[in-house]
Amino acid sequence: MCGIVGKISLNPVNNLIIDGLKKLEYRGYDSVGMAIINSNNKLKTLKSAGKIKDFLIKYNSNKIEGNIGIGHTRWATHGIPSDLNAHPILDYNEKIAVVHNGIIENYLDIKNSLIEEGYLFQTDTDTECISNLISFYTRNGNSIMNSIKLTLDKIIGHAAVLVIDEESPDKIFGFKKGFAGSLLIGKKNKEISIASDFDTLKTNSDEYIVLEDYEYFYASKDKIEIFKQNKPRTKTWMKIKGDTEIVSKENYKYFMEKEIHEQSAVFLRNLQGRVDFNEKSIDFTDDFSKLKLEKIERIHLIGMGSSYYACMLGSYWLEKISKIPTQFSTSSEFRYRSPVIENNTLIIPVSQSGETADTLSASNLVKELNISQIAITNSINSELERITNNTIMMRANTEIAVASTKTFMATIEILFMLSIYFAKLKNVNIEKNIIFEELKIIPSYIDNILGNVSEISKLAKKYSINDNFLFLGRGQNLPIAMEGALKLKELSYIHAEGYPAGEMKHGPIALIDENMPVFNIVTEGQYFNKMISNIREIGSRNGKIIVLTNCPDKLDPSWYTDIISFDRTNDLLSPFLSTVCVQLFSMYTAISRKLDIDQPRNLAKSVTVE
Ligand code: G6P
Repeated sequence: MCGIVGKISLNPVNNLIIDGLKKLEYRGYDSVGMAIINSNNKLKTLKSAGKIKDFLIKYNSNKIEGNIGIGHTRWATHGIPSDLNAHPILDYNEKIAVVHNGIIENYLDIKNSLIEEGYLFQTDTDTECISNLISFYTRNGNSIMNSIKLTLDKIIGHAAVLVIDEESPDKIFGFKKGFAGSLLIGKKNKEISIASDFDTLKTNSDEYIVLEDYEYFYASKDKIEIFKQNKPRTKTWMKIKGDTEIVSKENYKYFMEKEIHEQSAVFLRNLQGRVDFNEKSIDFTDDFSKLKLEKIERIHLIGMGSSYYACMLGSYWLEKISKIPTQFSTSSEFRYRSPVIENNTLIIPVSQSGETADTLSASNLVKELNISQIAITNSINSELERITNNTIMMRANTEIAVASTKTFMATIEILFMLSIYFAKLKNVNIEKNIIFEELKIIPSYIDNILGNVSEISKLAKKYSINDNFLFLGRGQNLPIAMEGALKLKELSYIHAEGYPAGEMKHGPIALIDENMPVFNIVTEGQYFNKMISNIREIGSRNGKIIVLTNCPDKLDPSWYTDIISFDRTNDLLSPFLSTVCVQLFSMYTAISRKLDIDQPRNLAKSVTVE
C-alpha cells in the first residue's frame, strides 16, 4: 500500500529517493511521485500513474534535482490512480508538497470550509485538504511548524505525513496521527532518511527514531526536533544492526514461486531454538519471557486476509491440543464491536507486515484495556511490535510477493507450536511421540510436494478457463480451503469461495452443475467419511470434483475428476502440506492466465488504511 520516503543530503537526493521508492514497491501501489526543492529553492514535482518504470520514463526526459525531497508510492483510496491524484499533493499556491499514508475522515468538511476561504482543489484526494490546510494556517500568520500542528489537530482519521515547503527550503516536516503505518527517521553522517518502512530506511541509516502518535517534527541536515502538544520530545536514537538482506528472485521467475519454495527452510528456522526434539518440548522463552501465561484461560486471535485464516486454523489447534477456549476474529470487526474480553484472556494479533491498520488499532485497543497480548509478525521494528511489546517473529525473511505464502506457513507453524506449549502449561496430555516425530518430518514432506509440481501445474492449466470455484474442507482443513479460495481469487481473479463442507448443502449446492469445479480437502482421520458424503453430493449434481488428499488409496477413483496427493501425516499436521498444494494451484492458475503473480491488481501488501 502507500509508501513514504524522504531525504536530506549534501548532494542531490533524486536517485536516493528513487531507490527508496523501488524498495517500497513490494507493498503494492498504483502511482508514484516525487517532490524536490532545487538549488534555486524552487519546489519541483514529478508524478505518474502506473509503476516505477512508468515514472522513470517521465523522469528521464524531465529530471528534477535537489538536495532535499520526498517521494511516495500511492494505493488509491480517494480518486482513481492518475498523474493528478498521485502524491506529492500540492497546496493551491503550489509552494507546499505533501505525501500521506492513511485516510482523512473529515476531509469533505475541511475541503468545503477551505473552498469558502477561496481555496481551489485540483485532485480527488483527501490529502489535498492537508496541503491546503497547512497553507491556510501559514497564510494566517502561523509558522510552518505551528501550521503543521494545527493541521494535525484538525484532521480526523489516520495519517503519516511528510511536507516540504518552498519557504523553508532546507527542511522536511511531518507528523503522525493514529495508525497509518510507521514513520521512521534515520541518520548517517549528515544525511537524513525518512521512511514508512524499516527496510527502506535501514540501507542509508546508522541509527533511527520512531515517530509516535500525535508527534510532529522538522528535520534539516544539522538538526531534528520533535514535538507533541507544543512540547519538545527527547528521543533515544537506536542503532541499526545486522546485515541488509539482499532479496532477489534467484533462479525463479517470480518472487512468489521462490517464496513458496523457501517454505521448508522457513519451517526449519522456526523450529530452531524453540523445539527440543529429545525432550519433546517447546519453549518460547526467547520470544516472550516477560509474560506470565499460566493463568491464561481464553485466547482470542485477530488478523486480516491470510493472517485471519491462519488465526482460524490456530483456534482449531489451540482448542484441540491445549484445550483452551479460543476465538478468532478479523481485526476490523473485533475493534468496533466493543468486544467483551474476560479476565485472563490472551490476545494474539497476527500480521506479517506488522503494519495492517485494522490489526494495529485492534491491538492498541487491547493495550489500552491492559490485556496481555503476544503478536506474531515477520517485521522487525514494526508498529505492531511496539504496541504489543511481546512478539514471536516469523523468521520468514522478506516476503516480496503481495499475497502471503511463506509468512502464512510460518504463522500456522508458530500457532501449532503455541498449542503444544500451552498444552504443557495447562497439563494437557498430548500424543507427544507422534506429534514431535511428524513435526520433524514436515520440511521434507514440503520438499516432496515442491520437487514434483508438474501434476499441480497441469491441473491448474486445465481449470484456469473456469470463472468460479468452490473450496471445501472440514475441521483443520476448512481454514486451508478458505485460504485456498482467497489465494485463487487474489492471484487469478477467478471467483472462489471457501466453505465448510457440511454447510455446502445450505446454499452453495445451488451453484453446482457441470461448470462448477469443487476443490475438496480430504485427509485421513476424524473427518474422512463426512467429507466423502459431502463430495458424493457434488458428484450427484455433475460438479467437477478435484480432491486434495493424503490418502489416495482410500478413495474410489470412479467418483472424482482429478486428484492431487501429498504425504500422509497425523491429521492435525496435514494443513502444513495442503497449504503448499493450494498455493501452487493458485500460482499456476494465474500463470496460465498470464497475470501479474507478484503484484496482483488492486492488492497491497501492507494495508495502512482501514
Ligand atoms: C493484504 C495482503 C495479504 C495479507 C493481508 C494481511 O491483504 O495482500 O496477503 O494476508 O494483507 O496482512 P498482514 O500484514 O496483516 O498479515
